[in-house]
Amino acid sequence: MCGIIGYVGPRKVVPVIIEGLRKLEYRGYDSAGMAIIEAGKLVVVKKRGKLRELEEAVRGNAYEATTGIGHTRWATHGRVEDRNAHPHMDCKGEIAVIHNGIIENYQTLRSDLIKKGHAFSSETDTEVIAHLLEEQVDAGRDLLDAVRGTAHQLQGAYAFLVVASRFPGRVIAVRNLSPLVLGVGDGEMIFSSDTPALLDYTHRIVPLHDGDVVEINDRGYFFYALEDGHAFTRAPMIVQWSAASAEKQGYKHFMLKEIYEQPVVIRDTLYGRFDVATGRVDLKEFADSPVPERISIVAAGTSYHASRVGKYLLEQLARIPTEVSFSSEYRYQQPIVQPGTLGIAVTQSGETIDTLAALRLQRQLGARVVAITNRPESSAVRESDVSFITQAGIEIGVAATKSFMAQLIAFYLMAISFGQRKGTIDQEASLRLGGELAGLSQKCEQVLEYVGVMEAIARKFYQVHDMIFVGRGVNYPIALEGALKMKEISYIHAEGYAAGELKHGPIALLEQNVPVIGLLPRGPLYEKVYSNLQESNARESPLVILAESTDATAQGLASDFIPMPIVGELFSPVLYTVPLQLLAYYTADRKGLDVDQPRNLAKSVTVE
Ligand code: F6R
Repeated sequence: MCGIIGYVGPRKVVPVIIEGLRKLEYRGYDSAGMAIIEAGKLVVVKKRGKLRELEEAVRGNAYEATTGIGHTRWATHGRVEDRNAHPHMDCKGEIAVIHNGIIENYQTLRSDLIKKGHAFSSETDTEVIAHLLEEQVDAGRDLLDAVRGTAHQLQGAYAFLVVASRFPGRVIAVRNLSPLVLGVGDGEMIFSSDTPALLDYTHRIVPLHDGDVVEINDRGYFFYALEDGHAFTRAPMIVQWSAASAEKQGYKHFMLKEIYEQPVVIRDTLYGRFDVATGRVDLKEFADSPVPERISIVAAGTSYHASRVGKYLLEQLARIPTEVSFSSEYRYQQPIVQPGTLGIAVTQSGETIDTLAALRLQRQLGARVVAITNRPESSAVRESDVSFITQAGIEIGVAATKSFMAQLIAFYLMAISFGQRKGTIDQEASLRLGGELAGLSQKCEQVLEYVGVMEAIARKFYQVHDMIFVGRGVNYPIALEGALKMKEISYIHAEGYAAGELKHGPIALLEQNVPVIGLLPRGPLYEKVYSNLQESNARESPLVILAESTDATAQGLASDFIPMPIVGELFSPVLYTVPLQLLAYYTADRKGLDVDQPRNLAKSVTVE
């Protein structure tokens, strides 16, 4: 939610900001803006719309500035208009602020400031920060103290950056609950909401913690405690990602590239964690702790769907009672955490605020908590007892694909490892399960060969208004995920149902313009799902069926048949997910929609 960037160094700052915002645009793309210190004066340029509007606005200006901040917005307070775009300024136009988060007490602060004579030019919560800073600076404080004095008055979640013409060559940042990372380059320093935007400059990063105030200037970077102002330091960590991994590398969209990366993601997430010869899974993350007696998972969106598969696996394979909650609901359901409970927070970004809040509550209630996350530098890692880092690499497409795949693999590994340690999985079963795990990457490559088939189905159905996805058992969450992918990027109303539930109401929706996409792998539920699909067929819905390539019965029933590799039912989610991602992708692309930046969404949801 909102991307922020700030730079001090030898380079001209305008291209640094534009390129940084391009990498952060997935976080929000309603408007973009920048503030630079040009010849001792503050220059602010901001535009509603995508980044190209801002680029257009600064094109042709020979700015020499080497200090500046930039912002790409996902609107919370105030409509999408130029005046509500960041940066926001004080009355004199000398101080500029960009902000990610929500200032909860902004209304009170705003009326107090108006009483003191401040004039506001936007509807945002952020603008109060600029005017509060003005008060502090007018009282004779240095910018650093002014930032601390201002932050003490704010309630809510924020990461904000400040520049001021009276204090050239300095950018000051504060973090409370919203993500912010510092990149430490050679003679240059850069702040960003997220790591990929830093990789062109440095691989040495320092994630900010809550309550950190950081100044960057031509002498380096300086940490201070928000609380009492004492100076301290944090050592940089090295991130391994390459700058090229945050590029499209010839693919039309990031989402398509990321779908294609899944076989490698499966391999990388399995790597070093299980022995193909014996099927034994060893997770060093859990080596020091007993097998949990029960598990409570919190997650949002796509990560929630992976968690629903996880519940199935943990219960089936390790016989551990497992509950899954939306992280946004968890806090409000008065959760009960019994002794022996392992909390699991599943979050690609490691920064989803609802999931972080749920994680904190789990710990407060006495659970040991593991974060399953794709981001080693994230808040989720810092705030949990132990973390399981998935190896999906940087995911830029707003619709999560490869990170979901990595989360699924993490759950297979955990469930098998707990099952082996508990004795619910014997040696023979270990070998069978290990064999399945080892074959997944290659089978996933096979599924990716159906691109043409999925493109053709998308061509056929891209104009429908509704779609129904059905699956049962371990594939019910995959039906939910297929529907989520479809609605978020193609804007087609799509629902996922447990196939057996269709007859309890949703069947009323079925008619010839409502395709049903059915997940029909071989397994104990095969006959049941088959009957449910027949019921849909009788209502004239076109039937797209994903089933084993040799399944002539399914092929006979389907209006469109997706031939899937043979795989044990328990492992089918890994493969059956992929055609659904491709279907959503090609449907949205066919509709001419912006696949990587769908309307109203943001990749990392850092507001409640
Ligand atoms: C959907 C999607 C979102 C995220 C959700 C949680 O494609 O990407 O639903 O899954 O916002 O994000 P993380 O996993 O970062 O906590």
